[in-house]
Order: sequence, then C-alpha cells, then structure tokens
Amino acid sequence: MQRLAPALRKDNVPLDLISLIKTILAATKEISFRVSQAHLSGLMGSTLDENIQGEVQKKLDVVANELFKDILLESGFVKAISSEEEDSSVAGDENGKYIVSFDPLDGSSNIDINSLIGTIFSIHQAPADMDASDPNMFKQAGNKQVCAGYVLYGPSTMLVMTTGSGTHFYVLDRTHGGYLQVERNVQVPQDTQEFAINMSNQRFWQQPMQNYINDLLAGDTGPRGKNFNMRWIAAMVGDIHRVLCRGGLFTYPADNKNPEKPYKLRLMYEANPMSFLLEQAGGLAMTSQGRIMDIEPTDIHQRVEVIMGSKNEVQACLAYYQ
Ligand code: AHG
Ligand code: MN
Ligand code: MN
Ligand code: MN
Repeated sequence: MQRLAPALRKDNVPLDLISLIKTILAATKEISFRVSQAHLSGLMGSTLDENIQGEVQKKLDVVANELFKDILLESGFVKAISSEEEDSSVAGDENGKYIVSFDPLDGSSNIDINSLIGTIFSIHQAPADMDASDPNMFKQAGNKQVCAGYVLYGPSTMLVMTTGSGTHFYVLDRTHGGYLQVERNVQVPQDTQEFAINMSNQRFWQQPMQNYINDLLAGDTGPRGKNFNMRWIAAMVGDIHRVLCRGGLFTYPADNKNPEKPYKLRLMYEANPMSFLLEQAGGLAMTSQGRIMDIEPTDIHQRVEVIMGSKNEVQACLAYYQ
C-alpha cells in the first residue's frame, strides 16, 4: 500500500497542491479525533445558532468548520475559503494559489446517533487578478476543479480523492498517522439495481421523477423488468461512497415542498466535488437539464438538483424528463 504523497507524485500532482492536500488531511485527522470523542467532551447536540442555509448548527458542525478554516488559513497555501457554515468567503493569503470550498461535516443529522458523517472538499486555482476578499473568485464551474474529495468518519476513516487522474481510495492508518492508498482507479458499475432518494418527499417531486421511481418500485413485472433495492444514509458522503463501491443511482431531485427552495444540495461543496469523483470513476453526475460540472455558479451557497451514479441508470432516469 502506497503512502499518499508518493501516490500523488506518481499522478504528476504539483508540489504546492500536494502541500495543500496534506494540510487538508491534517485537518481531517483532527476532526476524526474530535468526532470520536464528541460524546465524552460535551460536543453532542445543537448550538443556538443557525447557519446561512437556515439550518440549526450542531456543535460539531461549528468545531469542524473552525478547525478546517483555521488550519487552511494558517497554511499560506490558500487565497480564500468558502464553507457551508460561513456566510461568505473568508480571505486567506494574497499569494495563495488555490481556493477551497468545503462542507466541514456532511450528514449533520447523523451526529447525535453515532452514524456516518464526513467532510467534503473542492479545490480550484485562485484567479491571480482578484483580491483575496472577493467572493467572485468562487464563481468557477466544477469542470475547473483541480482536486476534490471527501473523508468518511466511519468504522475506518477513509479518504476518497481525485486530482483528475482517476478516483482513488485511502484509509487512515493510525499506526503511523497517515493515509495509505488502498484502491486505485475505482470504477462505478454502469448498471445497477439500487437507488437512493428521500422517499418521504415523493408527493413534492416533479412528475418525471414520480414516474421514474414508480417504475423502479414496480420491480420485475414493471417496465424496467428488474427489482430494485433502496438505501438512504441521510449523509451524501455515505450514499455516494456506496455508489462508488458497488454502483447505484443517488438523487436529490427538485421538489415543491418549499417553493422558494426547490433544491436541497449545495453546488460548490456537495454536488461539484461528488460529480468530479463520480465522473473520474466512469459515472455520470447530472441535473435534469445537463451536466452538473458545467454549471456556471452565481452564488457560493447555490443549490442544485442532483441525479448521479451508475451511467446507464442516470441516463434511464433522465429519459423521463425528455
Ligand atoms: P449537511 O449535513 O452538510 O447539511 O448535508 C445534509 C444533506 C446531505 O448530506 C444528505 O444527502 C441530505 O442532506 C439528507 O437530506 P434529508 O434530510 O432529506 O434526508
Ligand atoms: Mn448543514
Ligand atoms: Mn452536506
Ligand atoms: Mn454540513
């Protein structure tokens, strides 16, 4: 098993990007430790605050965000950061070559039940002609990401990352404190009999998604001619990890539950990094209108519809929208 830095050098990742990735991973090791100790150190439950998303922040959301932000801003490698838990972007070093968007803890509702959570990150090049305090730096499409990944704080702490040369799996080896590469060039099976969606929103979906899911539920006697299984971890990191491991379709479709908020997941620090990882593994990552990574963002906290995973199944779903 290969250590992280030599594995990245093999993929011709520039040295300054390797340094930034190592900084990010130092933060995730600390978060992994804090997560494992949360119950013992009074870090379960919610704060009294809401984030910019209108969600009540968990204590661990705040701790993970502060850790990630501080470590990144102190490193000197980043020009600015943006986070799910920050109102706007935060300036770093004017000479930093990169900008980082992150979801410090994904799957917050799992925190208090000791279930799967993770951290998601996305790295872009910093535009040289913009000020570190200018949030417009973040308005770059997902197809310009130079690195994306997530860390799962599960039975083992696992990193899944791409720098554009395939999607690779790493596991945190606590005996030496570093991530070791355990699988190279993961491939998402093109066909699947598994889907992930929050079924409780069914009555709020648009008609094409209602029709698609009804056909999946109809099983081997329905139009799809096969039985489908359903899974929902309520943490995108967990659901996408399952899709990367054994295939599947993951969607958080548009719904009219709250007409002002038709989408749930965030483009910059959820949809884009997961899209990069899935596409690098041979999967597809779409909205009903086109490729997620081609969206030109207008806002750091912009939300988006996602339909992603096994190629043939994503295409089967999109056919219902035509
Ligand atoms: P976060 O905890 O970072 O706010 O993200 C939660 C997201 C995503 O991880 C997950 O797929 C989805 O919300 C779960 O949604 P439901 O509450 O509808 O299950
Ligand atoms: Mn949240
Ligand atoms: Mn999230
Ligand atoms: Mn989060």
